[in-house]
Amino acid sequence: MIETRTVGRTLAHDSAELHVQGAATYIDDMREPEGLVHVYPGFAKDGALGKIKALDLSAVIAAPGVIRVLTARDVPGLNDCAPVFGGDPILADGRIMFHGQVIFAVVADTREAARRAAKLAKVEIAAETPAVTVEDALAAKTSDVGEPYQFLRRDPARTIAAAKHSVSESFRIGGQEHFYLEGQVSLAVPEEHGAVTVHCSTQHPSEVQHLVAHMLHIPAALVTVECRRMGGAFGGKESQAAQWACLSALAARLTGRPAKCRLDRDEDMMLTGKRHDFRVDYRAGFDAKGRVTAVDVDFLARCGYSADLSNAICDRTMFHADNAYFYPAARIATRRLRTNTVSNTAFRGFGGPQGMLFAERLMEVIAIRTGQDPLDVRKANLYGVKGDTTPYGMKVEDNIAPDIIAALEKSSDYRARRRAIVAFNAKSPVLKKGISLTPVKFGISFTLTHLNQAGALVHVYTDGSVHLNHGGTEMGQGLYTKVAQVVAEEFGLAAADVRITATTTGKVPNTSATAASSGADLNGMAAKAAASTIKNRLIDFAAKQWKVPKNRIRFEDGRVLIGNRSIPFGDLARQAHIARISLSSTGYYATPKISWDRPKAKGRPFFYFAYGAACSEVTIDTLTGEMKVGRVDILHDVGRSLNPGLDTGQVEGGFVQGMGWLTTEELVFDDQGRLRTHAPSTYKIPCASDVPADFRVKLFESKGNKEDTIYRSKAVGEPPLMLGISVWTAIFDAVASLKPGVIPQLDAPATPEAILRAAKGMLA
Ligand code: MTE
Ligand code: MOS
Repeated sequence: MIETRTVGRTLAHDSAELHVQGAATYIDDMREPEGLVHVYPGFAKDGALGKIKALDLSAVIAAPGVIRVLTARDVPGLNDCAPVFGGDPILADGRIMFHGQVIFAVVADTREAARRAAKLAKVEIAAETPAVTVEDALAAKTSDVGEPYQFLRRDPARTIAAAKHSVSESFRIGGQEHFYLEGQVSLAVPEEHGAVTVHCSTQHPSEVQHLVAHMLHIPAALVTVECRRMGGAFGGKESQAAQWACLSALAARLTGRPAKCRLDRDEDMMLTGKRHDFRVDYRAGFDAKGRVTAVDVDFLARCGYSADLSNAICDRTMFHADNAYFYPAARIATRRLRTNTVSNTAFRGFGGPQGMLFAERLMEVIAIRTGQDPLDVRKANLYGVKGDTTPYGMKVEDNIAPDIIAALEKSSDYRARRRAIVAFNAKSPVLKKGISLTPVKFGISFTLTHLNQAGALVHVYTDGSVHLNHGGTEMGQGLYTKVAQVVAEEFGLAAADVRITATTTGKVPNTSATAASSGADLNGMAAKAAASTIKNRLIDFAAKQWKVPKNRIRFEDGRVLIGNRSIPFGDLARQAHIARISLSSTGYYATPKISWDRPKAKGRPFFYFAYGAACSEVTIDTLTGEMKVGRVDILHDVGRSLNPGLDTGQVEGGFVQGMGWLTTEELVFDDQGRLRTHAPSTYKIPCASDVPADFRVKLFESKGNKEDTIYRSKAVGEPPLMLGISVWTAIFDAVASLKPGVIPQLDAPATPEAILRAAKGMLA
């Protein structure tokens, strides 16, 4: 193991102090430029589907403060802000496809004036019957947003038919609103020669750059997109920050003034996509010991009106439908259904959590059917027991799930608590307890192979101070801090000596979204490469200058040891500059070893897997449906941590967000596809008091990633969200205790209403 000084240490998030002082600058906090105008979208309020018969904007234009109104006709280039496949008009062109679609945008002196005026439009729509639900979409036979796709191993239908034990079920998994604290926002500043700089709260500055360029019909080199930080993103700003950036850039172009677009919370919730909700239809066969012999599962995804990222997301659902378990025979299939609802998008886990929830429900169901403890069923099915190849042909080479489960089983005192719960439930007619220990195995890499690359730019100034830039974006996860630690390590400096700067397309081009949890893996490596190029130049220079062998030069504690001489890092930088040595370098990294043949559904899509496990205990009230999480134990693997403080924060936050998804967060659309839960009054995210009272979070002690990642660390951004599944399975377990052998009819989220319904169902 390489010894390190800043890497591996708990350092506070670089903006932590600014965050708590309210001094961190988000886009809406930036000093507003002279002559700023505000843009606000006008959207479809009634019909979810149909041709626009008439659009009367006269009252909008006449409203106080209004400067002009933008419609599709004003777009000089491409009127589309889709990430991959097209089909996302920036401004509706003749047809409404979902409630909340943007038809026009008001440009006014103030945000309030623009927002008020946007409500004055008269829109007439030749309403057609919208497809809102999965069932509507299946019945309407509208084209899907992508081709159906499946993994197939051997003959699951035959195996299930021949199996001694089998189960056939259908259940639902709800979506999730991102509820980032900072809503969607962009500020566009027009520049010379038709250029524009867009300050955008986005996970994907390069994509916003390209979409703005296409929309304005100008070269990408004329568009600069910058993002210092986001107030949370969670996948919601991977593709869906672009529309508001485009609208502000269009307004800036047409008025010649800086233009800002910031959505109100309710409208942010109605107008932007969410986690995909699913209906899952499955059959499975298993033996008397609970070992799976075959699964045959169809994931029916509500994708909304356009493809957005749905295809990659549904692929990831399939990649994780096995979670940590070996299925000897399997058919894992997805339909990507088009509905007249907002276009669903990336959300922490990117479809993986839905696949994994299926696997964990299956384990619970098998346990009920075979009368075993669910943990024993899980252990019997883990990779490594009977097989180690996934349904998509990748060998699991780094399987530490059994070790993590064994350690957590012990440290959480699972068996004794299980006995206590059985005893409690026998005596308690109304309150019932449940406990569940579930693993997570999450594949790390973008499954679209070419996205697995990154760039960085490092400057050393002649006083020895360091300026760092890379393609990753900061959304609260601590990426900037981790990458600064890596660069500081290289130069033997303290992390605070490295100046962290905003992500901008002007410094590092052609970047991928900061997503798939790969931010530190990719940008850490790229930044290390840049810093090491400069360091090697400095070593060459010092070796020559002082006639010392290169292996006797070391960078430590802000100084450089050159043979027996020790000089401050800044002195070496200055002398190297005078000797005309370049002190600036780019760095680049592309993930090795990965390949994926999608048509054949074979390959090694992931560089490695991240693992974890959680054990949750809950109590439900069978008369009211109320639920309380008692104790949660987590053991999560981050390889050799770059920063244990930040990683623990990601584990805690991810778990709570996953728990919220599966317990209290419920999206309700009406029959016109209107979101009825578009504010915190009706959409309940976890708050501080929902954090388990007894919350024991530990990072798994390991020698580090088996693969050669940055300092042998592992990605941590998304995987912990799926630890929250243990809360849902614990609720399932509590409900199941009401009647031995009966499978609870419980969907996700397990809201109090859902728990009450399921409990009643058991007693019926
Ligand atoms: N943590 C915070 N605080 N805020 C966020 O928006 N997004 C998550 C995760 N953790 C998020 C977060 C998502 S969806 C991803 S993909 C990763 O962070 C992205 O960052 P990383 O690749 O640097 O881990
Ligand atoms: Mo994260 S859902 O990959 O942005």
